Amino acid sequence: MSAHTHDDVDWAARLPAMRRADALDAEAHAGVAARLVADLPERPTIVDAGCGTGGMSAAFAAQLAIRSGGVLILVDATPELLAEAEKAASAAGGPEVRLETVVADVAGGHLRELEPLADLVWASAMVHHLPDQQAGIAELAAALRPGGKLAIAEGGLQMQCLPWDLGIGEPGLEYRLLAARDDWFGELRAGMAGSVPLPHGWNIALGKAGLIDVSAFSFLHDHPAPGSEALRDFIADRMDWLAHVAGDRISEADRETVTRLADPGDPAYVGARDDVFILGTRTVHYGRSR
Ligand SMILES: C[S@@+](CC[C@H](N)C(=O)[O-])C[C@H]1O[C@@H](n2cnc3c(N)ncnc32)[C@H](O)[C@@H]1O
Repeated sequence: MSAHTHDDVDWAARLPAMRRADALDAEAHAGVAARLVADLPERPTIVDAGCGTGGMSAAFAAQLAIRSGGVLILVDATPELLAEAEKAASAAGGPEVRLETVVADVAGGHLRELEPLADLVWASAMVHHLPDQQAGIAELAAALRPGGKLAIAEGGLQMQCLPWDLGIGEPGLEYRLLAARDDWFGELRAGMAGSVPLPHGWNIALGKAGLIDVSAFSFLHDHPAPGSEALRDFIADRMDWLAHVAGDRISEADRETVTRLADPGDPAYVGARDDVFILGTRTVHYGRSR
């Protein structure tokens, strides 16, 4: 099966940065996976939709291995990422964990054909890449058995990594980069073929998809300075990506600063700083099918 995303993002090129993020988030992912599987039946079926490089896929595989196994179905439209997720999940799972991979566009109606129906469908940072997010949630919910749980990680508090005054450029760079990133994202959504607004919060969207017992929890990404080399590499990747998406939405002076921060050969390289950190939260919205 071939598939494509709707957002014009080169996801395969994001693979190394996504792997770095998975490694940093491993502990947080383990906690979220443990919380989500706690009330599932024996040998459950879990779908990770838009699994990326598989940080949460691996956490689910580990949870299934601790319990008496189950089925883990990984779905993504980008084959390179799906292959990476499969590697991560098979390393974390055990013989009792049956792993399946599906290359599919979540918006294409394939999830409702999956067998068996799922006890848990998880989709992190994926729904906001679909042109019609409400229809996407309905697709995810259609893969649930009656009483099954849909959990989507969307929104939270913006991740921050940089001190306010970096000693180069004008202070407050990160706020301006994040504002430019939001503009880019708004334009990306508006430019998607078939884009439909979602003019309310995720709890309402889950309710409109027919889910009940809708609620949410948030989890923390908290890696204080001074950070490991992996943390600093992650932040350098992030600068590179923010510079790319901000484009000419920021001033020439800010563009120069962020280019210097992302350049390993520059004395201002962010990856060589001992005062960068990660602080942010992500929210998991969930509900149950009837
Ligand atoms: C921001 S990444 C999130 C990856 C992972 N879930 C995480 O939280 O780290 C978005 C993922 O969704 C996938 N994706 C985007 N649009 C998709 C679609 N229409 N169908 C299936 N996967 C899609 C991309 O290939 C990418 O792996």
